[in-house]
Amino acid sequence: MNITILITGGAGFIGSNFVRYMLLHTEYSIVVVDALTYAGNPENLADFIADKRLSFIQERIEHTEKIREICNHYGVEGIINFAAETHVDRSIMDPSPFVTSNVMGTVSLLNIARELGLRYVQISTDEVYGSLGDDGYFTEHTPLQPSSPYSASKASADMFVQSFVHTFGVNASITRCSNNYGPYQFPEKLIPLMIVRALENTTLPVYGDGKNVRDWIHVDDHNSAVWAVYCQGKKGEVYNIGASSEQHNIDIVKKILSSLGKSEHLITYVKDRPGHDRRYAIDSTKIMTELGWRPQISFADGLESTIEWYCTHQQWCNNIRNGDYQRYYQQLYGKNI
Ligand code: NAD
Ligand code: DAU
Repeated sequence: MNITILITGGAGFIGSNFVRYMLLHTEYSIVVVDALTYAGNPENLADFIADKRLSFIQERIEHTEKIREICNHYGVEGIINFAAETHVDRSIMDPSPFVTSNVMGTVSLLNIARELGLRYVQISTDEVYGSLGDDGYFTEHTPLQPSSPYSASKASADMFVQSFVHTFGVNASITRCSNNYGPYQFPEKLIPLMIVRALENTTLPVYGDGKNVRDWIHVDDHNSAVWAVYCQGKKGEVYNIGASSEQHNIDIVKKILSSLGKSEHLITYVKDRPGHDRRYAIDSTKIMTELGWRPQISFADGLESTIEWYCTHQQWCNNIRNGDYQRYYQQLYGKNI
């Protein structure tokens, strides 16, 4: 078998873990296209860089001509679009890159999927549904009510996907997953940020009262769900993905401190994020009943293994802080990418 799939954003957190998942669990070949923004790090793929089934191209998804050339050159069967600007706080500082990558980039890929007749999976997020109160869950029928420029850009992309299914018959599905954690997550997101700062004995900034709730899933469980959707998901359908693991932010921060043997005095309550969504919680009944997917990793085990990973990969974190991944990668591997 020699089938090739285009993975966009494959040098980021979830995308690089997905590439690892594919190379370990399938016989597919992978072409990664990634712009290598601040969040894209070729070192995330270093274990597999010599694998003949993996090709890496630095490119932006909104560059339609280039992406079309890549799809034709590699004869790709489908596209899974992980590429995006992903950090809510950055979207509050400057929404524009979120429109470019998340909206225009998605439309660019959809045009190619339409033209070449490709299978297409859009990696969306539960944040498109907005915020929940104390009870209830997001289902695939929950209306879209994005709160931040990030989630507005993701909701917009989802609507373009659905319009391409409806108008042009593109064979596309959408996944909406809850908060991921695991190895290779950029340490601007809650869990890796708190681990890295605790290891340095610096303050841990908790937004507002720390009682916001997120529904956590290990990245490997997310990725097995994405693969199930790529293979078995129906055209035009949305699949929520979650592992039923709601946690208050402050409880996670305390668990990290306890696991590392650090004092809770490091916790500092800071000004809240503007428009901060209070609670996310996912109902995953549809993907479980229709596609037979189940999460495998408990939050307790996943958090421990993630803390362990960051403890043993402090050089990875330091490299990120030095910035300029591209130069770093060229130095590391002695070639242009
Ligand atoms: P990330 O920020 O770690 O990685 C994003 C990757 O996309 C980076 O490698 C970056 O270089 C690349 N990229 C950005 N703009 C690009 C462009 N215009 N062209 C090509 N590449 C570009 O993000 P992540 O956490 O791995 O998220 C991956 C996807 O999953 C995103 O679509 C995100 O919205 C979605 N998602 C994330 C979570 C989460 O908890 N992290 C949860 C649900 C859904
Ligand atoms: O729900 C899925 C989404 O999860 C993804 O679509 C996004 O790409 C991803 O970034 C994530 O969004 P959140 O805003 O939920 O993640 P973040 O790690 O930024 O924040 C998690 C919670 O922790 C949130 O309530 C804000 C809080 N927080 C975050 C940071 C960075 C803090 O209290 N302090 C912090 O320093």
